[in-house]
Amino acid sequence: MLTINDLTRRFGDKKAVDAVSFHIERPAMVGIIGRSGAGKSTLLRMLNRLTDASAGRIVFDGQDITALRGRDRRAWQSRCAMIFQQFNLVPRMDVVSNVLYGTLNRRSTLATMFNLYPTADIRRAIGILDRLGIAEQAPKRAEALSGGQQQRVAIARALMQDPAIILADEPIASLDPMNARIVMDALRRIHEEDGRMVVCNLHTLDTARTYCDRIIGMRDGRVVFDGSPAQLTTGVARDIYGAGADFSEAATSTDIETLDRHQYERGKARALV
Ligand SMILES: Nc1ncnc2c1ncn2[C@@H]1O[C@H](COP(=O)(O)OP(=O)(O)OP(=O)(O)O)[C@@H](O)[C@H]1O
Ligand SMILES: [Mg+2]
Repeated sequence: MLTINDLTRRFGDKKAVDAVSFHIERPAMVGIIGRSGAGKSTLLRMLNRLTDASAGRIVFDGQDITALRGRDRRAWQSRCAMIFQQFNLVPRMDVVSNVLYGTLNRRSTLATMFNLYPTADIRRAIGILDRLGIAEQAPKRAEALSGGQQQRVAIARALMQDPAIILADEPIASLDPMNARIVMDALRRIHEEDGRMVVCNLHTLDTARTYCDRIIGMRDGRVVFDGSPAQLTTGVARDIYGAGADFSEAATSTDIETLDRHQYERGKARALV
């Protein structure tokens, strides 16, 4: 289905993504993990063609995605919907209009200007909101919703495009544990019930283990692990995160950074003595 070959993105001298290759056979739910700066977001952005690759190739169902331009590129972007940590909704606009935004690609300028949506689309939007358990929020402004509800609106907007792939860049990083679970459950259900591929950047190891069929670990722009949750042992995880022996299974990339900072600060304090 999805094949990535030697995909590379340079920023100046730095390779944010460095010759990444993998193949996703069937519509799996794939988690990408790695510490901050490992290249996870850059990889997703290249998949969605928000960022151009410096080298390498992306092929989906036999089509070369890397080469798409103009209208073809936009068509691809609606086949692989993106969800972000910060939801990216229009805060003052009502929920259902935010969801209908997902159909914008195929509406005329005039219809867009006058906010005219076909009744069938409105019905479908409400159906999707209902499926995500937030239909009663439809008339409210997006900004009036909780973070977990807003992220479900963003998922609804993505589903409105009927995408083959959902790309999620740290979709639960701003949410409390309960809302994080609701959002991850929703993504998993969409994957299982609709057979959509989900590729999800995650910063907690436990979430990747719990929800994903396959986990790809990145370090310094490269893939350093690609396997099942069972294959992701503590030793492997430690290697992905470049963490020391005090690394624990429950750690997140944020924890590891805090750990590093403490070590750095302790080092500095010692240097001052
Ligand atoms: N537009 C840009 N210009 C210059 N450098 C960039 C740009 N975008 C990303 N980078 C660099 O590329 C590297 C990878 O960044 P990326 O955002 O993909 O990492 P990440 O794994 O998503 O990190 P995080 O967990 O913090 O979101 C980093 O070193 C980052 O500074
Ligand atoms: Mg990122």
